[in-house]
This record gives sequence, structure tokens and C-alpha cells, in this order.
Amino acid sequence: MSKAKNVGATLDRARPIDHQKSHEIQAFGHVTHLPIALSENVARKSVENLNQVLADTITLRDLYKKHHWQAAGPTFYQLHLLFDKHADEQTELVDAIAERIQLLGGVSIAMAHDVAERTLIPRPPKGREAAPIQISRLLHAHEIVLKEARAMAGRAAEGGDDGTNALLVSDVIRRNELQVWFLAEHVVDAPVVRA
Ligand SMILES: [Fe+2]
Repeated sequence: MSKAKNVGATLDRARPIDHQKSHEIQAFGHVTHLPIALSENVARKSVENLNQVLADTITLRDLYKKHHWQAAGPTFYQLHLLFDKHADEQTELVDAIAERIQLLGGVSIAMAHDVAERTLIPRPPKGREAAPIQISRLLHAHEIVLKEARAMAGRAAEGGDDGTNALLVSDVIRRNELQVWFLAEHVVDAPVVRA
């Protein structure tokens, strides 16, 4: 091989191979079996349930960010900060739920279009809403997540999937309950100066 050809071949190896396309390695909805001592049936049911909680948790996280950006009124500063704190905590839940779906052999829902199709949380308007309406929307979304997470946690425990049960109870349910408390106290009509 000539020297020039040699240089060309070396450069070729250094060139990034971009714009690659191929088929998926695992279709959405298919569950592969990992050696974690759980039956495929139990893992499949947990994956299905967790994908629903995941879609709703991503939507709830996004609803918090919307309200964080679009907050208005005398309580702007505290709500702006509170909504962002809750969004960060929901992001941690999103990651934990998605990774559990993968370790159960499933495929986690991920992209906004797919999340929008799946979520049970009603779509808010694009425009800004007043603080009490923002809070009402968030409380309703939390209740949807809490209701499904409690039912799913029970089913996971019945099937012996203690890991999914623990994630739903210790992380999802307890975090959502705490956030509901912090939100709900903002819409109690308590006097500010004189009782
Ligand atoms: Fe921000």
C-alpha cells in the first residue's frame, strides 16, 4: 500500500460514522427476561404499570415547570421556588421509575409525543393561569398518580415484585403525598394579618 493510501485508511478510521440507521433492538411493549428471580408474567405486569406512572410523572414534572415559569401574583417568589423544587424531585422519580422498567426487562416510555398519548393528566392550556388554578391542576395530577400508584403497589406485592412495591410506596407515594401537603396549604383561606 502506498504511503498516501495508508494515510487515507487511517483518516477513514478516525472519521465518525454518523447518520446511521437500523431497526430497533427491542420493540416497545416487549419484555425481555433478566435473571432477577421474577417470573416473566410478573415483570411484564410491573413494566406495564410503571410505564403508566412514568408517563404521568413526566407530565406532572412538566406541569410543575410550566407553572414555575408562568407563575404570577403576590406569591410569585415562593411559588416559583416551590414549583421548581417539586419539579426537581419529580425528575428524580422519573429516572428511578424508567430505570426500574429497564431492569425488569421492559422498555421505558421516554419522548413527549408518547407521554402525551399515554398520560391520564388533563392537558392544560398553553397560556398562563392564576396561582390557585395552577395549584388545583397540580393537586388533581398528584391525586391521579397517587391513586394509580397505590393500586399498582398492591398488585406488585401480590406478585412478589417487592422492588416495584418499594419504589412505588417509599418513593412515588410518599414524595407525592408530601408535595400535596406543601401545595394544599397554599389554597387554605387563612387570614394573613388579622384573625
Ligand atoms: Fe428556573
